[in-house]
Amino acid sequence: MIVLGVETSCDECSVAVVEDGKRIVGQVIATQIDEHAPYSGVVPEIASRTHTEWISGVFQRALDDAGIPASDLDGIAVTTRPGLSGSLVVGLSFAKGIAFGLGLPLISVDHVLAHLYAPQLEMEVEYPFLGLLVSGGHTIIARVADQFSMEILGTTIDDACGEAFDKVAKHLDLGYPGGIAIDRLASTGDPLAFNFPDASLHKGDHRYDVSYSGLKTAVVNQLEQFWNRDYEKSKANIAASFQKAAIDLLLKRVVRAAADTGLRRVVAGGGVAANSYLRRSLGEHPELDAIYPSLELCTDNGAMVAGLAYHLFGRGDRDDLALDVSARVPGFRRTYP
Ligand code: KG4
Ligand code: ZN
Repeated sequence: MIVLGVETSCDECSVAVVEDGKRIVGQVIATQIDEHAPYSGVVPEIASRTHTEWISGVFQRALDDAGIPASDLDGIAVTTRPGLSGSLVVGLSFAKGIAFGLGLPLISVDHVLAHLYAPQLEMEVEYPFLGLLVSGGHTIIARVADQFSMEILGTTIDDACGEAFDKVAKHLDLGYPGGIAIDRLASTGDPLAFNFPDASLHKGDHRYDVSYSGLKTAVVNQLEQFWNRDYEKSKANIAASFQKAAIDLLLKRVVRAAADTGLRRVVAGGGVAANSYLRRSLGEHPELDAIYPSLELCTDNGAMVAGLAYHLFGRGDRDDLALDVSARVPGFRRTYP
Protein backbone atom coordinates (compact mmCIF):
# COMPACT_ATOMS: atom_id res chain seq x y z
CA MET A 1 0.00 0.00 0.00
CA ILE A 2 1.45 3.37 -1.03
CA VAL A 3 0.44 6.22 1.29
CA LEU A 4 1.02 9.93 0.88
CA GLY A 5 1.74 11.73 4.17
CA VAL A 6 1.17 15.47 4.60
CA GLU A 7 2.70 17.31 7.58
CA THR A 8 2.14 21.03 8.21
CA SER A 9 1.59 21.19 11.98
CA CYS A 10 4.28 23.79 12.65
CA ASP A 11 7.03 25.28 10.50
CA GLU A 12 8.01 22.30 8.33
CA CYS A 13 6.08 21.80 5.12
CA SER A 14 6.56 18.15 4.28
CA VAL A 15 5.06 15.55 1.99
CA ALA A 16 6.27 11.95 1.72
CA VAL A 17 5.39 8.73 -0.06
CA VAL A 18 5.78 5.58 2.06
CA GLU A 19 5.20 1.97 1.09
CA ASP A 20 3.66 -0.47 3.57
CA GLY A 21 4.43 1.75 6.57
CA LYS A 22 8.14 1.06 6.21
CA ARG A 23 9.88 2.16 3.04
CA ILE A 24 10.27 5.86 2.29
CA VAL A 25 9.84 6.02 -1.47
CA GLY A 26 10.13 9.81 -1.65
CA GLN A 27 10.08 12.74 0.69
CA VAL A 28 10.44 16.53 0.71
CA ILE A 29 10.86 18.51 3.95
CA ALA A 30 10.80 22.26 3.37
CA THR A 31 11.68 24.16 6.51
CA GLN A 32 10.48 27.69 7.18
CA ILE A 33 13.35 28.51 9.56
CA ASP A 34 14.46 31.50 7.45
CA GLU A 35 10.91 32.92 7.46
CA HIS A 36 10.70 32.85 11.27
CA ALA A 37 14.32 33.55 12.24
CA PRO A 38 13.89 37.36 12.31
CA TYR A 39 11.29 36.87 15.06
CA SER A 40 13.31 34.29 17.05
CA GLY A 41 10.33 31.94 17.06
CA VAL A 42 7.54 30.55 14.89
CA VAL A 43 4.94 33.21 13.95
CA PRO A 44 1.67 31.29 13.36
CA GLU A 45 0.31 33.68 10.73
CA ILE A 46 3.53 33.49 8.70
CA ALA A 47 3.62 29.70 9.10
CA SER A 48 0.14 29.12 7.68
CA ARG A 49 0.60 31.57 4.81
CA THR A 50 3.95 30.00 3.89
CA HIS A 51 2.41 26.51 3.93
CA THR A 52 -0.31 27.82 1.60
CA GLU A 53 2.33 29.04 -0.86
CA TRP A 54 4.53 25.95 -0.64
CA ILE A 55 2.29 22.92 -0.23
CA SER A 56 1.45 22.12 -3.83
CA GLY A 57 5.09 22.51 -4.93
CA VAL A 58 6.26 20.30 -2.06
CA PHE A 59 3.64 17.69 -3.06
CA GLN A 60 4.79 17.72 -6.69
CA ARG A 61 8.47 17.44 -5.71
CA ALA A 62 7.71 14.55 -3.33
CA LEU A 63 6.04 12.63 -6.19
CA ASP A 64 9.02 13.44 -8.44
CA ASP A 65 11.38 12.22 -5.72
CA ALA A 66 9.34 9.01 -5.43
CA GLY A 67 9.30 8.66 -9.22
CA ILE A 68 5.60 7.76 -9.29
CA PRO A 69 2.46 9.43 -10.65
CA ALA A 70 -0.29 10.48 -8.21
CA SER A 71 -2.45 7.70 -9.68
CA ASP A 72 -0.17 5.13 -7.97
CA LEU A 73 -1.20 6.37 -4.50
CA ASP A 74 -3.53 4.18 -2.42
CA GLY A 75 -4.35 6.56 0.45
CA ILE A 76 -3.82 10.08 1.80
CA ALA A 77 -2.73 10.75 5.39
CA VAL A 78 -2.52 14.11 7.10
CA THR A 79 -1.53 15.43 10.52
CA THR A 80 -4.60 17.02 12.12
CA ARG A 81 -3.48 17.36 15.77
CA PRO A 82 -1.81 18.75 17.79
CA GLY A 83 -0.19 21.82 16.29
CA LEU A 84 -0.83 25.36 15.11
CA SER A 85 -4.47 25.39 13.93
CA GLY A 86 -3.89 27.68 10.95
CA SER A 87 -0.98 25.55 9.73
CA LEU A 88 -2.83 22.26 10.25
CA VAL A 89 -5.79 23.57 8.24
CA VAL A 90 -3.57 24.18 5.20
CA GLY A 91 -2.27 20.59 5.16
CA LEU A 92 -5.71 19.18 5.88
CA SER A 93 -7.45 21.16 3.14
CA PHE A 94 -4.76 20.18 0.65
CA ALA A 95 -5.01 16.50 1.66
CA LYS A 96 -8.81 16.62 1.32
CA GLY A 97 -8.47 18.06 -2.19
CA ILE A 98 -6.04 15.34 -3.26
CA ALA A 99 -8.12 12.57 -1.69
CA PHE A 100 -11.33 13.87 -3.29
CA GLY A 101 -9.73 14.51 -6.66
CA LEU A 102 -8.15 11.06 -6.86
CA GLY A 103 -11.00 9.24 -5.12
CA LEU A 104 -8.70 7.94 -2.39
CA PRO A 105 -9.35 7.22 1.30
CA LEU A 106 -8.32 9.93 3.74
CA ILE A 107 -6.99 9.40 7.27
CA SER A 108 -6.07 11.83 10.05
CA VAL A 109 -2.89 11.22 12.02
CA ASP A 110 -1.86 12.29 15.51
CA HIS A 111 1.44 14.15 15.37
CA VAL A 112 2.75 12.82 18.70
CA LEU A 113 2.08 9.17 17.80
CA ALA A 114 3.63 9.83 14.39
CA HIS A 115 6.86 11.14 15.96
CA LEU A 116 7.02 8.06 18.16
CA TYR A 117 6.47 5.86 15.09
CA ALA A 118 9.35 7.48 13.15
CA PRO A 119 12.13 5.02 14.16
CA GLN A 120 10.05 2.20 12.67
CA LEU A 121 10.76 3.60 9.22
CA GLU A 122 14.35 2.51 9.85
CA MET A 123 14.25 -0.42 12.29
CA GLU A 124 11.99 -2.81 14.18
CA VAL A 125 10.67 -1.42 17.46
CA GLU A 126 8.54 -3.45 19.83
CA TYR A 127 5.61 -2.02 21.77
CA PRO A 128 5.02 -1.05 24.52
CA PHE A 129 7.64 1.60 25.22
CA LEU A 130 8.12 4.95 26.88
CA GLY A 131 7.83 7.79 24.41
CA LEU A 132 9.87 10.94 24.91
CA LEU A 133 8.86 13.72 22.54
CA VAL A 134 10.88 16.90 23.00
CA SER A 135 10.64 19.69 20.45
CA GLY A 136 9.96 23.40 20.13
CA GLY A 137 6.28 22.78 20.78
CA HIS A 138 6.11 19.56 22.80
CA THR A 139 7.56 18.02 25.93
CA ILE A 140 5.82 14.71 26.47
CA ILE A 141 6.60 11.54 28.40
CA ALA A 142 4.09 8.84 27.48
CA ARG A 143 3.43 5.15 27.88
CA VAL A 144 2.89 4.02 24.31
CA ALA A 145 0.87 0.81 24.09
CA ASP A 146 0.78 0.39 20.31
CA GLN A 147 0.61 2.42 17.08
CA PHE A 148 -2.81 3.74 18.01
CA SER A 149 -2.80 4.75 21.64
CA MET A 150 -0.72 6.24 24.38
CA GLU A 151 -1.17 7.46 27.91
CA ILE A 152 0.44 10.82 28.55
CA LEU A 153 2.30 10.50 31.84
CA GLY A 154 4.00 13.86 31.97
CA THR A 155 4.30 17.07 30.06
CA THR A 156 5.48 20.62 30.62
CA ILE A 157 3.34 22.87 32.74
CA ASP A 158 4.68 25.94 30.89
CA ASP A 159 7.35 26.23 28.15
CA ALA A 160 8.35 23.35 25.89
CA CYS A 161 11.92 22.10 26.28
CA GLY A 162 13.04 23.31 22.82
CA GLU A 163 11.34 26.63 23.45
CA ALA A 164 13.49 27.09 26.57
CA PHE A 165 16.61 26.33 24.50
CA ASP A 166 15.48 28.88 21.90
CA LYS A 167 14.73 31.58 24.48
CA VAL A 168 18.04 31.14 26.29
CA ALA A 169 19.85 31.14 22.95
CA LYS A 170 18.13 34.38 22.03
CA HIS A 171 19.28 35.90 25.31
CA LEU A 172 22.84 34.77 24.56
CA ASP A 173 22.59 36.16 20.99
CA LEU A 174 23.11 32.75 19.44
CA GLY A 175 20.47 33.07 16.69
CA TYR A 176 17.39 30.96 15.89
CA PRO A 177 16.73 28.09 16.28
CA GLY A 178 18.95 28.09 19.30
CA GLY A 179 19.02 24.47 20.45
CA ILE A 180 21.82 23.39 18.19
CA ALA A 181 23.81 26.58 18.93
CA ILE A 182 23.56 25.94 22.68
CA ASP A 183 24.50 22.29 22.15
CA ARG A 184 27.66 23.34 20.24
CA LEU A 185 28.67 26.14 22.60
CA ALA A 186 28.03 23.93 25.65
CA SER A 187 30.71 21.51 24.48
CA THR A 188 33.31 24.17 25.25
CA GLY A 189 31.81 25.24 28.60
CA ASP A 190 31.75 23.92 32.15
CA PRO A 191 28.33 22.58 33.18
CA LEU A 192 29.19 23.13 36.85
CA ALA A 193 29.70 26.90 36.54
CA PHE A 194 26.06 27.56 37.45
CA ASN A 195 23.78 25.51 39.60
CA PHE A 196 20.36 26.14 38.05
CA PRO A 197 17.18 25.01 39.83
CA ASP A 198 14.73 22.24 38.98
CA ALA A 199 11.22 23.28 39.97
CA SER A 200 10.39 20.02 41.75
CA LEU A 201 6.92 19.03 40.70
CA HIS A 202 7.46 15.50 41.88
CA LYS A 203 4.40 15.19 44.08
CA GLY A 204 1.00 13.68 43.30
CA ASP A 205 -0.36 14.55 39.90
CA HIS A 206 2.93 16.08 38.74
CA ARG A 207 5.15 13.04 39.17
CA TYR A 208 6.40 13.16 35.57
CA ASP A 209 5.74 16.80 34.71
CA VAL A 210 8.44 19.37 34.00
CA SER A 211 8.64 23.15 34.12
CA TYR A 212 11.04 25.31 32.11
CA SER A 213 9.78 28.77 32.88
CA GLY A 214 11.70 29.11 36.16
CA LEU A 215 14.89 27.76 34.61
CA LYS A 216 14.61 30.25 31.75
CA THR A 217 14.07 33.12 34.20
CA ALA A 218 17.06 31.95 36.24
CA VAL A 219 19.27 32.11 33.14
CA VAL A 220 17.88 35.34 31.74
CA ASN A 221 17.21 37.44 34.84
CA GLN A 222 18.76 35.84 37.91
CA LEU A 223 22.10 34.58 36.69
CA GLU A 224 24.03 35.97 39.68
CA GLN A 225 22.00 33.93 42.09
CA PHE A 226 23.01 30.57 40.60
CA TRP A 227 26.64 31.35 39.77
CA ASN A 228 29.36 29.21 41.40
CA ARG A 229 31.92 31.95 42.00
CA ASP A 230 35.07 29.94 41.30
CA TYR A 231 34.02 29.77 37.66
CA GLU A 232 34.04 32.25 34.80
CA LYS A 233 30.68 33.77 33.84
CA SER A 234 31.20 33.03 30.14
CA LYS A 235 28.53 32.32 27.51
CA ALA A 236 29.88 28.81 27.07
CA ASN A 237 29.61 28.13 30.80
CA ILE A 238 26.06 29.49 30.88
CA ALA A 239 25.10 27.35 27.87
CA ALA A 240 26.65 24.19 29.35
CA SER A 241 25.05 24.71 32.78
CA PHE A 242 21.64 25.51 31.28
CA GLN A 243 21.78 22.50 28.97
CA LYS A 244 22.69 20.21 31.87
CA ALA A 245 19.83 21.56 34.00
CA ALA A 246 17.27 21.40 31.17
CA ILE A 247 18.11 17.83 30.19
CA ASP A 248 18.79 16.47 33.70
CA LEU A 249 15.37 17.54 34.92
CA LEU A 250 13.73 15.87 31.93
CA LEU A 251 15.67 12.63 32.25
CA LYS A 252 14.94 12.46 35.99
CA ARG A 253 11.24 12.11 35.04
CA VAL A 254 12.00 9.59 32.29
CA VAL A 255 13.99 7.41 34.70
CA ARG A 256 11.16 7.69 37.25
CA ALA A 257 8.56 6.73 34.62
CA ALA A 258 10.68 3.76 33.50
CA ALA A 259 11.02 2.52 37.08
CA ASP A 260 7.29 2.93 37.76
CA THR A 261 6.06 1.31 34.54
CA GLY A 262 8.76 -1.34 34.24
CA LEU A 263 9.39 -0.21 30.65
CA ARG A 264 13.05 -0.02 29.63
CA ARG A 265 12.68 0.93 25.98
CA VAL A 266 12.62 4.71 25.47
CA VAL A 267 11.77 5.97 22.00
CA ALA A 268 12.84 9.60 21.60
CA GLY A 269 11.71 12.11 19.00
CA GLY A 270 11.51 15.84 18.25
CA GLY A 271 14.31 18.30 17.58
CA VAL A 272 15.72 18.21 21.11
CA ALA A 273 16.22 14.43 20.77
CA ALA A 274 19.22 15.47 18.64
CA ASN A 275 20.86 17.06 21.69
CA SER A 276 24.26 15.49 22.35
CA TYR A 277 24.09 15.81 26.13
CA LEU A 278 20.63 14.16 26.18
CA ARG A 279 21.93 11.25 24.10
CA ARG A 280 25.05 10.86 26.21
CA SER A 281 23.09 11.01 29.47
CA LEU A 282 20.43 8.52 28.34
CA GLY A 283 23.25 6.22 27.25
CA GLU A 284 24.65 6.29 30.77
CA HIS A 285 21.55 4.54 32.13
CA PRO A 286 22.13 0.80 31.73
CA GLU A 287 18.53 0.13 32.80
CA LEU A 288 17.25 2.02 29.72
CA ASP A 289 17.38 1.14 26.05
CA ALA A 290 17.16 4.40 24.08
CA ILE A 291 16.00 4.41 20.47
CA TYR A 292 16.29 7.44 18.16
CA PRO A 293 15.26 8.03 14.59
CA SER A 294 17.89 9.47 12.24
CA LEU A 295 18.25 13.25 12.45
CA GLU A 296 16.03 13.83 9.42
CA LEU A 297 13.21 11.83 11.00
CA CYS A 298 13.68 13.39 14.47
CA THR A 299 12.15 16.66 13.29
CA ASP A 300 8.76 17.07 11.58
CA ASN A 301 8.36 15.02 8.40
CA GLY A 302 5.65 13.55 6.19
CA ALA A 303 7.12 10.03 6.26
CA MET A 304 6.21 9.41 9.90
CA VAL A 305 2.62 10.46 9.06
CA ALA A 306 2.36 8.17 6.04
CA GLY A 307 4.09 5.35 7.96
CA LEU A 308 1.67 5.41 10.88
CA ALA A 309 -1.31 5.86 8.52
CA TYR A 310 -0.58 2.49 6.90
CA HIS A 311 -1.52 0.83 10.21
CA LEU A 312 -4.61 3.00 10.64
CA PHE A 313 -5.78 2.12 7.13
CA GLY A 314 -4.93 -1.50 7.87
CA ARG A 315 -7.39 -1.70 10.70
CA GLY A 316 -10.10 -0.05 8.58
CA ASP A 317 -9.94 3.54 9.85
CA ARG A 318 -11.17 6.19 7.40
CA ASP A 319 -12.08 9.86 7.75
CA ASP A 320 -14.49 11.88 5.65
CA LEU A 321 -14.27 15.35 4.14
CA ALA A 322 -15.81 16.92 7.26
CA LEU A 323 -12.55 16.18 9.13
CA ASP A 324 -11.30 19.10 11.24
CA VAL A 325 -8.05 19.98 13.06
CA SER A 326 -7.38 20.26 16.77
CA ALA A 327 -4.65 22.37 18.36
CA ARG A 328 -4.40 19.94 21.27
CA VAL A 329 -4.77 16.17 21.69
CA PRO A 330 -7.86 15.03 23.59
CA GLY A 331 -6.67 14.18 27.08
CA PHE A 332 -3.43 15.99 26.37
CA ARG A 333 -3.50 17.40 29.88
CA ARG A 334 -5.05 15.69 32.81
CA THR A 335 -7.90 17.81 34.11
CA TYR A 336 -7.59 19.56 37.42
CA PRO A 337 -10.36 19.74 40.00
O1 KG4 B 1 10.93 18.93 16.14
P1 KG4 B 1 11.42 20.27 15.75
O2 KG4 B 1 12.30 20.40 14.54
O3 KG4 B 1 10.25 21.27 15.47
C1 KG4 B 1 9.17 21.46 16.30
O4 KG4 B 1 9.33 22.16 17.31
O5 KG4 B 1 8.11 20.91 15.98
O6 KG4 B 1 12.17 20.87 17.00
C2 KG4 B 1 12.78 22.12 16.97
C3 KG4 B 1 13.31 22.40 18.35
C4 KG4 B 1 13.83 23.83 18.47
O7 KG4 B 1 13.37 24.37 19.69
C5 KG4 B 1 15.34 23.62 18.47
O8 KG4 B 1 16.03 24.64 19.15
C6 KG4 B 1 15.48 22.30 19.16
O9 KG4 B 1 14.40 21.52 18.66
N1 KG4 B 1 16.75 21.62 18.88
C7 KG4 B 1 17.66 21.32 19.82
C8 KG4 B 1 18.75 20.73 19.15
N2 KG4 B 1 18.46 20.67 17.81
C9 KG4 B 1 17.21 21.21 17.68
N3 KG4 B 1 17.65 21.53 21.15
C10 KG4 B 1 18.72 21.13 21.83
N4 KG4 B 1 19.81 20.56 21.27
C11 KG4 B 1 19.86 20.33 19.94
N5 KG4 B 1 20.94 19.76 19.40
ZN1 ZN C 1 6.86 17.69 15.77
